[in-house]
Amino acid sequence: MARINRNDYQIRFDFNNMMSDYIGAEQGIKEKDISEISDKIKAAFNGVSEKGGSGWQGWLDLPYNQDEIVADILLTAKEVRRKCKAFVVLGIGGSALGPIAVFQALRHLHYNELPFKQRKGPKFYVEDNVDPERMAALLDIIDPATTIFNVITKSGATSETMSQYLVITDILKKALGKDYASHVIATTDKEKGNLIKLAKKEGFKTFYIPSGVGGRFSELSPVGLLPAAVLGIDIKLMLAGARDMAKKGLKTANPYKNMPLMAAALQYIAMNAGKNISVMLPYADSLKYIADWYCQLWGESLGKSVDKEGNEVYAGQTPVKALGVTDQHSQIQLYTEGPFDKVITFIAVDSFRKEVMIPEGLADFPDVNFLCGNTMGTLLNTERKATEYALAKKHRLNRTITLPAVNEYTIGQLLMMFMLETAFVGEMLNIDTFNQPGVEEGKNATYAMFGRKGYEAKKAELDSAKVKTNRYMI
Ligand code: PA5
Repeated sequence: MARINRNDYQIRFDFNNMMSDYIGAEQGIKEKDISEISDKIKAAFNGVSEKGGSGWQGWLDLPYNQDEIVADILLTAKEVRRKCKAFVVLGIGGSALGPIAVFQALRHLHYNELPFKQRKGPKFYVEDNVDPERMAALLDIIDPATTIFNVITKSGATSETMSQYLVITDILKKALGKDYASHVIATTDKEKGNLIKLAKKEGFKTFYIPSGVGGRFSELSPVGLLPAAVLGIDIKLMLAGARDMAKKGLKTANPYKNMPLMAAALQYIAMNAGKNISVMLPYADSLKYIADWYCQLWGESLGKSVDKEGNEVYAGQTPVKALGVTDQHSQIQLYTEGPFDKVITFIAVDSFRKEVMIPEGLADFPDVNFLCGNTMGTLLNTERKATEYALAKKHRLNRTITLPAVNEYTIGQLLMMFMLETAFVGEMLNIDTFNQPGVEEGKNATYAMFGRKGYEAKKAELDSAKVKTNRYMI
């Protein structure tokens, strides 16, 4: 693990612009609103911290209990880096979004285009769709003989991933014969599902997703750690960041001293005030896919029709991904002047890993010349602050999470911060944060449409659905 001064890399949370003193009494949250739900905040804190790593909260243990697994991952990654030219993840949802987010955050932004000398590892692809053109395109550019495929599926049953598995293993078998199995690494549940059975039968190297860790909470398990290690990312430092955030988030029920708990309380209050949309707006291309990862975490965890007692609640807040400054020229008009139904979360970076100077040279053009002599990072961060100001002036709830720099330690903190915030809000809403019946329904309907055995009743249900009329098709 790289040695860094951790004090220099603590992420920060600024919620001034959520508060009525800063954005006005009509939209803003008052300290009284927070104190009025102090029992709920405390109960949420206890609900998450007391359950610790039990039940579906196994993700809370991941920063602590993986020494042996990490050692195995590092050994495997070293071998993969030595052996192959491309490393391909086959997975979807929680089995893909974390690896994509961490890759984008912690590797060169044009990693695959770099020469091997600079990359020092295999090219990296995540296939998280069953678009035939995309699969065909991948097959056009990789050589099965020098590619290792990491099939990731917690359930071991997801149609998309298993269809990719079938396509790839067929190609591998034809190209490599018996040796094909050394080109597949399975990441799945230890006992449940088809992939574990296949892995045992075929002799694939296998990593396990602990039983209490659901897909969208699995990035710090082998789901995310193996691809990250293959990419040369310091996974021990990432886990250290997550551990330090977990300690902070589970230390005190006082929200003013607990970043994820305060973040959760503010979102809960905002949701109850009709803020139905959560916009995730990183001002750094490296964090672009953190927003995608967050959208799944937030949407799938909190979007629930019933509470824990089975009462209809239709809870949730629609997550939206955006990117600064790009979306200032696309979405910000709506956020500044449209309905008062959003909370906007900026993710800021103090110091970029590379800087680009905007050179002098247009002294005769004052409208452009003011930019000269500044860095692009200064321009980006100035635009972020200006957008924050503009939103606050128009009474729009916004908050800022700041990373001193993007590195393994801050990314570990950020992932854990969002997972804790999600779990706390789930407790406040009194819903099951960790299930996804809405996703299951779609999966089951697909199985039924394909005539899968055991889904006859679902097929009958689908067949009896109202037939569409041509009147409404043009
Ligand atoms: O969060 C979840 O549990 C889901 O979104 C899953 O990650 C997704 O459906 C993929 O499932 P699996 O990993 O079982 O293939």
